[in-house]
Amino acid sequence: MQTETKMQVSYKNYWYIACQSHELKANQALQRIVLDEWIALFRDEEGKPVAFQDRCPHRNFKLSQGHVKDGLLQCPYHGWVFDKNAQVVAIPSESKNFKPLKSRCAKRFDVLEQDDFIYVRLESHPDIQSGPFRMPHYREPGYRTQRLFNVFKNNVTNCAENYVDVPHTVFVHDKIFRVSRDEKVDATVTRKNGTVKVDYRNETDNMGWFSFFLNPKKEKIIHIDYFHVPNITSVEYIFSPGKEFYITSHSTPVNDQLTHVYTDLTYRFGIFTPFAGPIVRYQGQSVIDQDIEVLDTQMEVIHKYGERFSNSTADIVHVLIESLRNAIAKGQNPAELGEQQHDFEFWI
Ligand code: FES
Ligand SMILES: [Fe+2]
Repeated sequence: MQTETKMQVSYKNYWYIACQSHELKANQALQRIVLDEWIALFRDEEGKPVAFQDRCPHRNFKLSQGHVKDGLLQCPYHGWVFDKNAQVVAIPSESKNFKPLKSRCAKRFDVLEQDDFIYVRLESHPDIQSGPFRMPHYREPGYRTQRLFNVFKNNVTNCAENYVDVPHTVFVHDKIFRVSRDEKVDATVTRKNGTVKVDYRNETDNMGWFSFFLNPKKEKIIHIDYFHVPNITSVEYIFSPGKEFYITSHSTPVNDQLTHVYTDLTYRFGIFTPFAGPIVRYQGQSVIDQDIEVLDTQMEVIHKYGERFSNSTADIVHVLIESLRNAIAKGQNPAELGEQQHDFEFWI
C-alpha cells in the first residue's frame, strides 16, 4: 500500500517584498536578501522583474554585480550571459562555438510586481497558492498612501506582534499616539484560516492629538487589527463615514535577526485628505522610530538570555500569532489550525 507523504510547508512558500518597484531600474541589477537567500534582481526586455539566486553557476561570482543589457544579465567575471529563464545564452570564451546546454543555468525564483512592490517566492507549495497580500485601498480614488521603509534588528514574529500590540502604545508612544488613562477596552480575537483578527470595542478619542480633526465629536471608532500569515499586519481605523486610516506593514525576513519593514499609511480624511500627507508621514515615522528602539533592545536581551515570554490577558493576540508562525516552522499549513475565538479585556 502506498502512503502519501505530505510536502512540508515552510516560510519559503510565501511571497515577500524584495524591494519597491522604483528601486529596480531598467538595465541595473540589484541584490536583496530574503530568508538568508541571496537574490539578484533585474528587469527583462519588457520591464518585467526577474529573480535569480545571486550566484553564477560558472565560478560562483555574484550575479547582482552583473550588467543588464536588453533584458539579459551578464556576469562580470567571465561574461556568461543569462536570459530571463536563467539559461546561458552566450559565453564569450566559446564565441561562435557556443552551444546552449540545459545543465548550464542559474537558479530562478518566482517573482512578480504588485502595488508598486517587487515580490519574490523562494519555493512553491501546492497548498499555499495565494498571491501576495493586496495593500488595502492602494491607489484607489479618494485614498492617499504614505509609504515608509524601515530596518528592525529583530525577527518577523516580534515585529508583527509589536504592530498589533495596543498596551505598549501608552508607554512607548505616550502622547504622540495614545495617553494612558486607565480606560477599559473590550476586544474579541479570532484565529481562522491563517489570520488573526482583533475587534476592539469602546475606543473613542484616545488617539493623541489626531482625534481633534479625525473624531471631533468623540464618537465610537471602529478599530480592527489583522495578522495574515506569515508576515502582514493590517490596522484599520474608521473614525466616521469617509474618515479611514489603514496601517499595513509587510515584514520581510532578511534573516532571523533582521527584518525589512514596508509600511503603507493609507488614509481618507475627507476635506483634509489632500493636505494630510506630510503630517501622516512625520507622525508615522516618529512612532516607528520609537518601535525600532524598543525592538532592537528586545533582541539584545533575547540574545543574552534566550527568548522566554510570559503573558497578560491582552497577549492572547500574540499567542495566536505565534501559533500560526510556529505551525509553519513545524512544516504545517497554518490555515489548517482549528478556529478559535476569545473575548478579553484590558486597560490603557
Ligand atoms: S563566474 Fe560568472 S561567468 Fe565566470
Ligand atoms: Fe509601537
